[in-house]
Amino acid sequence: MPKHLISIHDFSKEEILRVLSLAAEFEKNPSRPLFSDKVIASIFFEPSTRTRLSFETAANRLGARVIGFSDAGNTSVTKGETLKDTIKMVSNYADLIVMRHPLEGSARYASEVSSVPVINAGDGANQHPSQTLLDLYSILKTQGRLDNLKINMVGDLKYGRTVHSLLQAMSHFNPTFRFTSPEELRMPAEYKEYLNEKGIPFEESSNLEDGISDTDILYMTRVQRERFTDAIEYERVKNIYSLQGNMLTETRPNMKILHPLPRINEIAQDVDNSEHAYYFEQAGNGVYTRMAIITMLLGVNQL
Ligand code: CP
Repeated sequence: MPKHLISIHDFSKEEILRVLSLAAEFEKNPSRPLFSDKVIASIFFEPSTRTRLSFETAANRLGARVIGFSDAGNTSVTKGETLKDTIKMVSNYADLIVMRHPLEGSARYASEVSSVPVINAGDGANQHPSQTLLDLYSILKTQGRLDNLKINMVGDLKYGRTVHSLLQAMSHFNPTFRFTSPEELRMPAEYKEYLNEKGIPFEESSNLEDGISDTDILYMTRVQRERFTDAIEYERVKNIYSLQGNMLTETRPNMKILHPLPRINEIAQDVDNSEHAYYFEQAGNGVYTRMAIITMLLGVNQL
């Protein structure tokens, strides 16, 4: 059976650290045509800018050829072809599949019917593990360590798949969490139970400004309009937080602001010039991290 990356739990702590170490090697020298005999399929059933383009850049930098689609509307899915049949076809053609799909659990299902490794590039509100690995790489680069950090996750903690995966990955590294969200978008109970079982402390708040001065990582997220079934509920919470430059006067010197992007209103433009802003560099780190993930899933563990 091929190894997949569907949930962050699919990689042990040692494998996570190996991804980060490989990513650092790729950052030093990004042109490494290790896989010129491979074809990578990039199949996106849901919109993406960073994840798709950085995976495709990573594949190109590794010398692989890329096939796929960014809009399932141009595929036989429109004729009623099932996900199972689509994956079986794509795994006939490619050596590895990168898939984004709106349905939670779809990536796990794809991995069960695929004959080649599958990378989950986001399945509904569930998981986005390659984003988590690039987040960890960004945290390590900016903090010099992963252990004993205080992380304040802000915004849509209910539907935001990036915070769900990041919380689980950071649990290897003795973190302390603050969850800042409106009541309607609280971190789901299953994730809080997970932290309780591991003895990892967290607090919940609705106040953004109170949680800035004593944090190492301020992890902002977008309110996920596409996950709401009730438009009125979305309207009520969509502009709940907006981080402004003048809120950053009393912070730890090492504090960095991360965001998986895209942002809407939750980070004002004037924050972009702050020494604490790191979200554009974070997205850039996605190429090296995804090169490392592809390399490991294609069976190469060191360069
Ligand atoms: N961070 C992220 O998943 O961005 P995209 O939706 O643009 O891929």
